[in-house]
Amino acid sequence: MTTRTTRETPLTAGLVPWPVARPRRLRTTPALRRLVAETRLSPADLVLPLFVKENATAPTPITSMPGVVQHTRDSVRKAAREAAEAGVGGVMLFAVPEHRDATGSQGVAPDGVLNRAIRDVVSEVGDELVVMADLCLDEFTDHGHCGVLRADGAVDNDATLDHYARMAVVQAEAGVHVVGPSGMMDGQVAAIRAALDAAGHTDVAILAYAAKYASSFYGPFRDAVESALRGDRRTYQMDPANAVEADREIRLDLAEGADVVMVKPALSSLDIVARAAAVADVPVAAYQVSGEYAMITAAAAAGWLDLDQAVVETLTAIRRAGATVILTYWAASAARRLR
Ligand code: PBG
Repeated sequence: MTTRTTRETPLTAGLVPWPVARPRRLRTTPALRRLVAETRLSPADLVLPLFVKENATAPTPITSMPGVVQHTRDSVRKAAREAAEAGVGGVMLFAVPEHRDATGSQGVAPDGVLNRAIRDVVSEVGDELVVMADLCLDEFTDHGHCGVLRADGAVDNDATLDHYARMAVVQAEAGVHVVGPSGMMDGQVAAIRAALDAAGHTDVAILAYAAKYASSFYGPFRDAVESALRGDRRTYQMDPANAVEADREIRLDLAEGADVVMVKPALSSLDIVARAAAVADVPVAAYQVSGEYAMITAAAAAGWLDLDQAVVETLTAIRRAGATVILTYWAASAARRLR
């Protein structure tokens, strides 16, 4: 008979080297937990999405995203400045134009709201932050789709690529550091890379929305940009049922020249983030989208969970899954707390 120093239960008998293995030992104190943490978040990992509304005279709250506003031309500079002071890695600009049309012409207008915002923000924080801009037509079209339409109403992939190419060059001329094509058109990265290079903008990087799912979690974003969309984006965004297809989208974007590949949304696609990290030899980004922001904010407002804990937990999980860059509406507030 062997002598045991502690109790062996029928459940553990013979299964584990009882009681030698005690994982709890490393969880005993905050200092130990900090020392052995496998995943760390830092402000520089975080990118803050910002909305700027044309001719707005005051920042306008977005009802479905409490705490997030549509900025004025001045307040977006201020928000970018505060983000820089908090140490975030970058900002991603989205625009709400006053005039929309079938082809989204304000997106390629050098003095359009987005391109002006790029100039303003680059002049404010361009030396401290990576300034990125959404490269998509949906904010600029009167039908709300991410591309131009054929006569039968379907989104015309190849015709849309020409618009993206022009938009990329105009954004580059406004000083953008990174363009974020989010429209999920086939060949968009290649078309944008070719256009940027032909115009001499070889240093402008492409953060490709590579695996972007058709998701209910973009709901509040559509309020944020006052989207005109009726219907859905299921003919171009991915079916949430698919993962192998995400690998393919990522490989294609890499082959087309993507500098960073992004998965979106984040929390419902952590498996895809992990696959992206396995497939890609470039940084992987993930977008904690408007609906993720809204649901946690709403639950916290009801007193059902702790906001700060939920934010750190979700951001850590996204990081753990393999994303090194995270777009989140909490970027500035989380960065301030992480410092
Ligand atoms: C398209 C775009 C969308 C988002 C980012 N870029 C909306 C969509 O695809 O419907 C969503 C971001 C979010 O929900 O926070 N320009």
